[in-house]
Amino acid sequence: MKRARITGIGKYVPENVVTNFDLEKIMDTSDTWIRERTGIAQRHWVTNPAVETVSTLGAEAAKRALDMAGLQPSDIDFIIFATLSPEHFFPGGGVFLQEKLGLEGIGALDIRNQCTGFIYGLSVADQFIRSGMYKNILLVGAEVHSTGIDKTTRGRDVAVLFGDGAGAAVISATDEKDCGILTTHLHADGKHAKHLWLQNPGSAQSPFVNEQMIADNSIYPYMNGRYVFKYAVTRFPEVIMEALQATGYSKNDVKLVIPHQANQRITEAVQQKLELPTEKVYSNIHNYGNTTAASIPIAMTDALQEGRFGENDLLVLAAFGSGFTWASAILRW
Ligand code: UT7
Repeated sequence: MKRARITGIGKYVPENVVTNFDLEKIMDTSDTWIRERTGIAQRHWVTNPAVETVSTLGAEAAKRALDMAGLQPSDIDFIIFATLSPEHFFPGGGVFLQEKLGLEGIGALDIRNQCTGFIYGLSVADQFIRSGMYKNILLVGAEVHSTGIDKTTRGRDVAVLFGDGAGAAVISATDEKDCGILTTHLHADGKHAKHLWLQNPGSAQSPFVNEQMIADNSIYPYMNGRYVFKYAVTRFPEVIMEALQATGYSKNDVKLVIPHQANQRITEAVQQKLELPTEKVYSNIHNYGNTTAASIPIAMTDALQEGRFGENDLLVLAAFGSGFTWASAILRW
Protein backbone atom coordinates (compact mmCIF):
# COMPACT_ATOMS: atom_id res chain seq x y z
CA MET A 1 0.00 0.00 0.00
CA LYS A 2 1.18 3.54 -0.77
CA ARG A 3 2.09 5.87 2.08
CA ALA A 4 1.59 9.64 2.11
CA ARG A 5 4.37 12.02 3.05
CA ILE A 6 4.71 15.78 3.14
CA THR A 7 7.24 16.68 0.47
CA GLY A 8 6.84 20.46 0.62
CA ILE A 9 5.62 22.99 3.13
CA GLY A 10 5.26 26.77 2.92
CA LYS A 11 3.64 29.81 4.48
CA TYR A 12 2.58 33.29 3.48
CA VAL A 13 1.37 36.06 5.79
CA PRO A 14 0.27 39.60 4.89
CA GLU A 15 3.05 42.20 5.17
CA ASN A 16 1.05 44.41 7.53
CA VAL A 17 2.08 43.74 11.15
CA VAL A 18 -0.31 44.83 13.92
CA THR A 19 1.32 44.93 17.35
CA ASN A 20 -0.45 44.88 20.70
CA PHE A 21 0.47 48.57 20.99
CA ASP A 22 -1.39 49.25 17.74
CA LEU A 23 -4.47 47.58 19.27
CA GLU A 24 -4.19 49.77 22.37
CA LYS A 25 -4.96 52.71 20.06
CA ILE A 26 -8.26 51.29 18.81
CA MET A 27 -9.70 49.46 21.86
CA ASP A 28 -9.39 49.29 25.62
CA THR A 29 -6.67 46.66 25.91
CA SER A 30 -2.98 46.52 26.79
CA ASP A 31 0.17 44.84 25.60
CA THR A 32 0.60 43.45 29.13
CA TRP A 33 -2.89 41.87 29.21
CA ILE A 34 -2.49 40.29 25.77
CA ARG A 35 1.02 38.94 26.43
CA GLU A 36 0.20 37.58 29.87
CA ARG A 37 -3.09 35.92 28.87
CA THR A 38 -2.13 34.68 25.40
CA GLY A 39 1.61 35.06 24.65
CA ILE A 40 0.79 37.09 21.53
CA ALA A 41 2.94 40.14 20.69
CA GLN A 42 1.80 40.81 17.13
CA ARG A 43 -0.31 39.45 14.30
CA HIS A 44 -0.54 40.08 10.54
CA TRP A 45 -3.73 41.64 9.21
CA VAL A 46 -4.54 42.28 5.56
CA THR A 47 -4.80 45.90 4.44
CA ASN A 48 -6.68 45.32 1.20
CA PRO A 49 -9.22 42.51 1.67
CA ALA A 50 -10.36 42.68 -1.96
CA VAL A 51 -6.88 41.62 -3.05
CA GLU A 52 -5.49 39.77 -0.02
CA THR A 53 -8.07 36.97 0.19
CA VAL A 54 -7.72 33.49 1.65
CA SER A 55 -7.15 32.13 -1.85
CA THR A 56 -4.43 34.66 -2.73
CA LEU A 57 -2.64 34.11 0.59
CA GLY A 58 -3.14 30.37 0.12
CA ALA A 59 -1.79 30.45 -3.44
CA GLU A 60 1.41 32.17 -2.27
CA ALA A 61 1.90 29.58 0.48
CA ALA A 62 1.16 26.83 -2.06
CA LYS A 63 3.82 28.10 -4.49
CA ARG A 64 6.41 27.91 -1.71
CA ALA A 65 5.33 24.40 -0.74
CA LEU A 66 5.50 23.34 -4.41
CA ASP A 67 9.01 24.83 -4.72
CA MET A 68 10.18 22.82 -1.75
CA ALA A 69 8.61 19.66 -3.15
CA GLY A 70 10.29 20.34 -6.51
CA LEU A 71 6.92 20.09 -8.26
CA GLN A 72 5.00 22.22 -10.73
CA PRO A 73 1.37 23.17 -10.08
CA SER A 74 0.47 20.83 -12.96
CA ASP A 75 1.77 17.87 -10.90
CA ILE A 76 -1.05 18.37 -8.37
CA ASP A 77 -4.01 15.95 -8.69
CA PHE A 78 -6.32 17.34 -6.02
CA ILE A 79 -6.80 20.37 -3.74
CA ILE A 80 -8.00 20.39 -0.14
CA PHE A 81 -8.71 23.86 1.19
CA ALA A 82 -9.37 24.46 4.89
CA THR A 83 -10.71 27.77 6.16
CA LEU A 84 -13.39 29.22 8.42
CA SER A 85 -13.13 32.59 6.69
CA PRO A 86 -13.84 31.97 2.99
CA GLU A 87 -13.92 35.05 0.77
CA HIS A 88 -17.52 34.21 -0.16
CA PHE A 89 -20.19 32.04 1.45
CA PHE A 90 -20.12 29.89 -1.68
CA PRO A 91 -18.33 28.60 -3.59
CA GLY A 92 -15.55 27.82 -1.13
CA GLY A 93 -12.00 29.10 -1.41
CA GLY A 94 -10.74 25.90 -3.07
CA VAL A 95 -11.94 26.82 -6.53
CA PHE A 96 -10.55 30.36 -6.28
CA LEU A 97 -7.20 28.92 -5.26
CA GLN A 98 -7.40 26.43 -8.10
CA GLU A 99 -7.96 29.21 -10.63
CA LYS A 100 -5.06 31.26 -9.24
CA LEU A 101 -2.72 28.30 -9.58
CA GLY A 102 -4.02 27.50 -13.09
CA LEU A 103 -5.15 24.02 -12.10
CA GLU A 104 -8.34 23.84 -14.15
CA GLY A 105 -10.23 20.58 -13.98
CA ILE A 106 -8.82 18.88 -10.89
CA GLY A 107 -11.03 18.34 -7.84
CA ALA A 108 -11.12 20.97 -5.08
CA LEU A 109 -12.54 20.02 -1.69
CA ASP A 110 -13.38 22.68 0.91
CA ILE A 111 -13.38 21.73 4.55
CA ARG A 112 -14.73 23.79 7.43
CA ASN A 113 -13.17 22.41 10.57
CA GLN A 114 -11.81 25.63 12.01
CA CYS A 115 -8.67 25.13 14.14
CA THR A 116 -8.48 21.44 13.27
CA GLY A 117 -8.97 22.05 9.53
CA PHE A 118 -5.36 21.30 8.63
CA ILE A 119 -5.27 17.96 10.45
CA TYR A 120 -8.69 16.94 9.11
CA GLY A 121 -7.35 17.81 5.64
CA LEU A 122 -4.17 15.86 6.26
CA SER A 123 -6.23 12.82 7.19
CA VAL A 124 -8.38 13.13 4.05
CA ALA A 125 -5.23 13.48 1.91
CA ASP A 126 -3.70 10.44 3.61
CA GLN A 127 -6.75 8.28 2.82
CA PHE A 128 -6.84 9.39 -0.85
CA ILE A 129 -3.15 8.60 -1.26
CA ARG A 130 -3.24 5.27 0.60
CA SER A 131 -6.17 4.19 -1.58
CA GLY A 132 -4.14 4.98 -4.72
CA MET A 133 -6.63 7.55 -5.98
CA TYR A 134 -4.19 10.50 -6.05
CA LYS A 135 -0.41 10.92 -6.15
CA ASN A 136 0.14 14.57 -5.20
CA ILE A 137 -2.35 16.55 -3.12
CA LEU A 138 -2.14 20.23 -2.23
CA LEU A 139 -3.48 20.96 1.26
CA VAL A 140 -3.93 24.62 2.16
CA GLY A 141 -5.06 26.21 5.43
CA ALA A 142 -5.73 29.94 5.11
CA GLU A 143 -7.57 32.57 7.11
CA VAL A 144 -8.49 36.22 6.88
CA HIS A 145 -9.92 36.89 10.33
CA SER A 146 -9.28 40.61 10.47
CA THR A 147 -12.25 41.56 8.29
CA GLY A 148 -14.70 39.55 10.42
CA ILE A 149 -13.89 40.56 13.99
CA ASP A 150 -15.20 43.41 16.12
CA LYS A 151 -12.18 45.69 16.47
CA THR A 152 -13.71 47.75 19.26
CA THR A 153 -13.56 47.27 23.03
CA ARG A 154 -16.80 45.26 22.78
CA GLY A 155 -15.01 42.57 20.75
CA ARG A 156 -11.60 42.74 22.42
CA ASP A 157 -11.65 39.25 23.96
CA VAL A 158 -11.73 37.76 20.44
CA ALA A 159 -10.14 40.50 18.31
CA VAL A 160 -6.73 40.46 19.99
CA LEU A 161 -6.32 36.71 19.47
CA PHE A 162 -6.67 36.23 15.74
CA GLY A 163 -4.33 36.80 12.82
CA ASP A 164 -4.41 36.36 9.04
CA GLY A 165 -2.16 34.01 7.10
CA ALA A 166 -1.81 30.84 5.10
CA GLY A 167 0.15 27.62 5.19
CA ALA A 168 0.33 24.86 2.60
CA ALA A 169 1.62 21.33 2.29
CA VAL A 170 2.23 19.10 -0.71
CA ILE A 171 1.41 15.52 0.22
CA SER A 172 2.80 12.87 -2.11
CA ALA A 173 2.64 9.11 -2.48
CA THR A 174 5.68 7.06 -1.52
CA ASP A 175 6.55 3.36 -1.44
CA GLU A 176 8.81 3.78 1.60
CA LYS A 177 7.71 2.13 4.86
CA ASP A 178 7.51 3.76 8.33
CA CYS A 179 7.63 7.27 6.89
CA GLY A 180 5.26 10.12 6.19
CA ILE A 181 1.84 10.22 7.82
CA LEU A 182 1.68 7.32 10.27
CA THR A 183 -1.66 7.97 11.94
CA THR A 184 -4.46 10.56 12.20
CA HIS A 185 -7.26 10.90 14.78
CA LEU A 186 -10.32 13.09 14.27
CA HIS A 187 -12.98 14.01 16.84
CA ALA A 188 -15.93 16.35 17.26
CA ASP A 189 -18.64 17.12 19.80
CA GLY A 190 -21.33 19.44 18.49
CA LYS A 191 -22.96 20.02 21.85
CA HIS A 192 -20.31 22.66 22.48
CA ALA A 193 -20.81 24.40 19.12
CA LYS A 194 -22.34 27.59 20.46
CA HIS A 195 -19.46 28.28 22.85
CA LEU A 196 -17.29 29.33 19.91
CA TRP A 197 -19.20 30.26 16.81
CA LEU A 198 -20.30 32.83 14.29
CA GLN A 199 -24.08 32.77 14.45
CA ASN A 200 -24.85 35.07 11.53
CA PRO A 201 -25.24 35.49 8.66
CA GLY A 202 -26.55 32.03 7.83
CA SER A 203 -29.42 30.07 6.38
CA ALA A 204 -30.99 29.51 9.83
CA GLN A 205 -32.28 33.08 9.47
CA SER A 206 -34.54 34.59 6.86
CA PRO A 207 -33.51 36.81 5.29
CA PHE A 208 -30.04 35.35 5.34
CA VAL A 209 -28.54 38.67 6.44
CA ASN A 210 -30.43 41.57 8.00
CA GLU A 211 -30.01 44.77 9.98
CA GLN A 212 -30.96 43.11 13.26
CA MET A 213 -27.85 40.93 13.05
CA ILE A 214 -25.68 43.98 12.74
CA ALA A 215 -27.51 45.71 15.60
CA ASP A 216 -27.20 42.76 18.01
CA ASN A 217 -23.55 42.12 17.08
CA SER A 218 -24.19 38.52 16.01
CA ILE A 219 -22.23 39.03 12.80
CA TYR A 220 -19.08 38.79 14.93
CA PRO A 221 -17.63 35.59 16.41
CA TYR A 222 -18.67 34.73 19.96
CA MET A 223 -16.28 32.87 22.22
CA ASN A 224 -16.78 31.64 25.77
CA GLY A 225 -13.03 31.87 26.39
CA ARG A 226 -12.79 30.13 29.76
CA TYR A 227 -15.05 27.29 28.62
CA VAL A 228 -12.96 26.76 25.46
CA PHE A 229 -9.75 26.91 27.49
CA LYS A 230 -10.95 24.24 29.93
CA TYR A 231 -11.75 21.73 27.17
CA ALA A 232 -8.64 22.57 25.14
CA VAL A 233 -6.22 21.69 27.94
CA THR A 234 -7.91 18.29 28.35
CA ARG A 235 -8.49 17.35 24.72
CA PHE A 236 -5.01 18.26 23.45
CA PRO A 237 -3.10 15.81 25.72
CA GLU A 238 -5.80 13.16 25.26
CA VAL A 239 -5.64 13.19 21.47
CA ILE A 240 -1.83 13.30 21.47
CA MET A 241 -1.72 10.20 23.71
CA GLU A 242 -4.27 8.50 21.45
CA ALA A 243 -1.97 8.99 18.45
CA LEU A 244 1.10 7.78 20.35
CA GLN A 245 -0.73 4.66 21.51
CA ALA A 246 -1.92 3.95 17.96
CA THR A 247 1.64 3.94 16.64
CA GLY A 248 3.32 2.35 19.65
CA TYR A 249 5.77 5.23 19.98
CA SER A 250 6.48 6.89 23.33
CA LYS A 251 6.88 10.57 24.19
CA ASN A 252 10.64 10.02 24.19
CA ASP A 253 10.59 9.05 20.50
CA VAL A 254 9.05 12.40 19.53
CA LYS A 255 11.31 15.15 18.23
CA LEU A 256 8.71 17.92 18.23
CA VAL A 257 5.05 18.44 19.08
CA ILE A 258 3.55 21.14 16.85
CA PRO A 259 0.22 22.18 18.36
CA HIS A 260 -2.33 24.48 16.84
CA GLN A 261 -1.34 27.93 18.12
CA ALA A 262 -4.39 28.95 20.18
CA ASN A 263 -2.87 30.45 23.28
CA GLN A 264 0.62 30.17 24.82
CA ARG A 265 -0.98 29.23 28.15
CA ILE A 266 -2.80 26.33 26.50
CA THR A 267 0.46 25.16 24.87
CA GLU A 268 2.27 25.34 28.22
CA ALA A 269 -0.52 23.48 30.01
CA VAL A 270 -0.34 20.70 27.39
CA GLN A 271 3.44 20.52 27.72
CA GLN A 272 3.18 20.24 31.52
CA LYS A 273 0.38 17.66 31.45
CA LEU A 274 2.40 15.47 29.10
CA GLU A 275 5.59 16.16 31.10
CA LEU A 276 7.47 17.17 27.97
CA PRO A 277 10.54 19.42 28.02
CA THR A 278 9.85 22.94 26.69
CA GLU A 279 12.04 22.41 23.63
CA LYS A 280 9.83 19.53 22.48
CA VAL A 281 6.74 21.72 22.07
CA TYR A 282 6.83 24.35 19.32
CA SER A 283 5.38 27.82 19.68
CA ASN A 284 5.33 30.83 17.37
CA ILE A 285 2.05 32.40 18.50
CA HIS A 286 3.89 35.58 19.58
CA ASN A 287 4.43 36.45 15.88
CA TYR A 288 1.08 35.54 14.32
CA GLY A 289 -1.66 35.15 16.93
CA ASN A 290 -4.15 32.39 16.26
CA THR A 291 -4.41 31.77 12.51
CA THR A 292 -6.82 28.83 12.90
CA ALA A 293 -6.53 26.43 9.91
CA ALA A 294 -3.23 28.05 8.89
CA SER A 295 -1.49 27.83 12.27
CA ILE A 296 -0.06 24.30 12.04
CA PRO A 297 1.43 24.60 8.52
CA ILE A 298 2.83 28.06 9.40
CA ALA A 299 4.35 26.59 12.58
CA MET A 300 5.76 23.60 10.67
CA THR A 301 7.35 25.91 8.10
CA ASP A 302 8.97 28.08 10.77
CA ALA A 303 10.09 25.11 12.87
CA LEU A 304 11.73 23.50 9.84
CA GLN A 305 13.50 26.74 8.90
CA GLU A 306 14.72 27.10 12.48
CA GLY A 307 16.18 23.59 12.35
CA ARG A 308 13.83 22.29 15.06
CA PHE A 309 13.32 19.05 13.13
CA GLY A 310 14.80 17.28 10.13
CA GLU A 311 14.83 14.09 8.13
CA ASN A 312 13.40 11.01 9.86
CA ASP A 313 12.26 12.95 12.93
CA LEU A 314 8.95 11.98 14.51
CA LEU A 315 6.47 14.87 14.67
CA VAL A 316 3.17 15.10 16.52
CA LEU A 317 0.52 17.55 15.31
CA ALA A 318 -2.52 18.35 17.46
CA ALA A 319 -5.38 20.84 17.37
CA PHE A 320 -8.53 21.84 19.20
CA GLY A 321 -11.15 24.43 18.34
CA SER A 322 -14.64 25.47 17.36
CA GLY A 323 -17.17 22.65 17.00
CA PHE A 324 -15.70 21.52 19.29
CA THR A 325 -13.37 19.55 17.07
CA TRP A 326 -10.01 18.09 18.01
CA ALA A 327 -7.48 16.02 16.13
CA SER A 328 -3.94 14.71 16.03
CA ALA A 329 -1.46 13.21 13.60
CA ILE A 330 1.93 11.58 13.83
CA LEU A 331 4.33 11.70 10.94
CA ARG A 332 7.90 10.78 10.25
CA TRP A 333 9.48 13.66 8.32
O1 UT7 B 1 -8.25 28.25 18.72
C1 UT7 B 1 -9.11 27.79 19.70
C2 UT7 B 1 -10.04 28.85 20.08
N1 UT7 B 1 -9.74 29.74 21.15
C3 UT7 B 1 -9.07 29.47 22.27
O2 UT7 B 1 -8.45 28.45 22.46
C4 UT7 B 1 -9.13 30.50 23.35
C5 UT7 B 1 -9.29 29.88 24.72
N2 UT7 B 1 -9.43 30.88 25.75
C6 UT7 B 1 -8.46 31.76 26.06
O3 UT7 B 1 -7.42 31.74 25.45
C7 UT7 B 1 -8.69 32.72 27.20
O4 UT7 B 1 -9.90 32.39 27.84
C8 UT7 B 1 -8.73 34.22 26.75
C9 UT7 B 1 -7.34 34.66 26.33
C10 UT7 B 1 -9.68 34.40 25.60
C11 UT7 B 1 -9.17 35.10 27.91
O5 UT7 B 1 -8.34 34.90 29.03
P1 UT7 B 1 -9.00 34.68 30.47
O6 UT7 B 1 -7.88 34.58 31.41
O7 UT7 B 1 -9.93 33.50 30.37
O8 UT7 B 1 -9.77 36.03 30.71
P2 UT7 B 1 -11.33 36.28 30.96
O9 UT7 B 1 -12.12 36.01 29.72
O10 UT7 B 1 -11.73 35.58 32.19
O11 UT7 B 1 -11.33 37.84 31.20
C12 UT7 B 1 -10.65 38.42 32.31
C13 UT7 B 1 -10.83 39.92 32.24
C14 UT7 B 1 -12.29 40.36 32.07
O12 UT7 B 1 -12.49 41.50 32.86
P3 UT7 B 1 -13.21 41.39 34.30
O13 UT7 B 1 -14.58 40.81 34.00
O14 UT7 B 1 -12.35 40.48 35.11
O15 UT7 B 1 -13.25 42.80 34.76
C15 UT7 B 1 -12.36 40.74 30.62
O16 UT7 B 1 -13.34 41.71 30.35
O17 UT7 B 1 -10.11 40.47 31.12
C16 UT7 B 1 -10.99 41.31 30.36
N3 UT7 B 1 -10.58 41.25 28.95
C17 UT7 B 1 -9.62 42.04 28.45
N4 UT7 B 1 -8.89 43.02 29.00
C18 UT7 B 1 -8.00 43.64 28.20
C19 UT7 B 1 -11.02 40.41 28.00
N5 UT7 B 1 -10.36 40.67 26.85
C20 UT7 B 1 -9.49 41.67 27.11
C21 UT7 B 1 -8.55 42.36 26.32
N6 UT7 B 1 -7.82 43.33 26.91
N7 UT7 B 1 -8.34 42.06 25.03
